[in-house]
Amino acid sequence: MDQGDKKRQVAKAAAALIEPGIRLGVGTGSTVNHFIEELGPWRGRIEAVVASSRETERRLRTAGFEVADLADTGDLDLYVDGADEANKHFHLIKGGGGALTREKILAAASRRFVCIIDDSKWVAVLGRFPLPLEVIPMAQSYVSRQMVRSRGLPVLRKGFVTDNGNAIIDVHNLSITNPPDVEARFNQIAGVVTVGIFAQRPADVILVAEDGGVKRLDRR
Ligand code: 5RP
Repeated sequence: MDQGDKKRQVAKAAAALIEPGIRLGVGTGSTVNHFIEELGPWRGRIEAVVASSRETERRLRTAGFEVADLADTGDLDLYVDGADEANKHFHLIKGGGGALTREKILAAASRRFVCIIDDSKWVAVLGRFPLPLEVIPMAQSYVSRQMVRSRGLPVLRKGFVTDNGNAIIDVHNLSITNPPDVEARFNQIAGVVTVGIFAQRPADVILVAEDGGVKRLDRR
């Protein structure tokens, strides 16, 4: 099975977790795009749908959904999103698509966070995927210097502006053995808006698409 088929399968498995009347948060990325394609039968049967990016909002509207604002819905019942890496503690790296800030807000505001990945994203230690940081533009070089002090190799994502008007720095060369600690430490750096480590609010369920089918992992 190729990666595209795995993404489709895991998206389908996530759609099977939706229940009538829920308030649903929708993440961003190619796996989530397949999830949006699965949402058709839920049109008119979900109380509210909230998007984690302008791109997801556009796709949801095209699929016939009214998209609500988190400021109006209150907490969500279910948040479904992909990830760039995941480990056995349900810690994630996210932000490959640059939507990490709104994704982290929706994850925080949701009772249940279901992460959908294919098995290429499963790692023993986070950090092989460059860690995205959303930063206030004037802090780019300052934050980059702090990353070098942490033995990272910061690379500015050229020509990319987030939905919030900020820059993304992708930090290569990190081996993140204590994700909650690194998340907290990098969050304290002046000018950092969001760290792409999701460990303080990890996933509750990870659905992993493998050659043999979709495996479900539940955090205790
Ligand atoms: C976007 C994300 C995505 O969830 C992550 O990049 C995975 O994307 P894809 O499903 O395309 O592999 O964090 O900011």
